[in-house]
Amino acid sequence: MSSHTNGRAPQNLLEFRGVTAGYGAVTVLRNIDLTVEPSSVVAILGPNGAGKTTLLRTATGLVKPSEGRILLDGDDVTGSPPYILARQGFCLVPEGRGIFPSLTVRENLVLACSKGKDARNAAIDRTIEVLPTLGQRLRQIAGSMSGGEQQMLALARAMMNDARLVAVDEASLGLSPLIVNHVYETLQRIVATGTAVILVEQYVTRALDFADRVYMLNKGEIVFSGRPDEVKQDQLFAQYLGTAS
Ligand SMILES: Nc1ncnc2c1ncn2[C@@H]1O[C@H](COP(=O)(O)OP(=O)(O)OP(=O)(O)O)[C@@H](O)[C@H]1O
Ligand SMILES: [Mg+2]
Repeated sequence: MSSHTNGRAPQNLLEFRGVTAGYGAVTVLRNIDLTVEPSSVVAILGPNGAGKTTLLRTATGLVKPSEGRILLDGDDVTGSPPYILARQGFCLVPEGRGIFPSLTVRENLVLACSKGKDARNAAIDRTIEVLPTLGQRLRQIAGSMSGGEQQMLALARAMMNDARLVAVDEASLGLSPLIVNHVYETLQRIVATGTAVILVEQYVTRALDFADRVYMLNKGEIVFSGRPDEVKQDQLFAQYLGTAS
């Protein structure tokens, strides 16, 4: 056992304990228990309006719980603002990607990074080592790239601050199946560096193939959690798969 764990069982990277959260008086998430182990992939599935995006926003500090606890490496970080969680390596890749379309790829990477110049250049080098096709496009205007390439850039931006957990909202949105394959190759490369991923994905079967653990949300509550192979035998899930895969 590594000295990092001090002989104790390995910590979860992220843990929600009975988290209730929403917007002002509107409660969206109710009593959510969820864990993300280091370097693992967690998929969040569920119908429109179930609270999937809100869950990712809560995990990255953009929405604050009204009840419950959020633990990071076993430490209570409930209520911490997004910039503190970003420093801990927690990043959100929002739906719509959140890149600056009129800037170059390189400028997008620079603006994503909170470090000084030398550390930033090193971060760019590390990022394009993992995603070499992006390295060939550093001078291209981001908005002129294909949708899949723009999604790759959005993921690359998340990697610029030593991401330990990247929360990815609907990475496949608006992309053809072939391009979605490329996006998943990109995600796979990021996971291979030891970064954990929480993803919200409309293509259920693809999420099940990629994830280590799956949560299904309905009306703000977790109605199923388990391994992807358990999901396939679950009746509720089968119903859902029938309409959404
Ligand atoms: N800023 C906000 N203020 C008030 N209510 C909000 C806000 N954002 C989302 N909601 C509400 O929270 C609920 C959950 O929204 P959320 O975006 O988390 O769902 P979702 O599962 O991501 O849906 P979709 O699959 O359509 O993306 C919805 O009823 C939505 O109207
Ligand atoms: Mg959403």
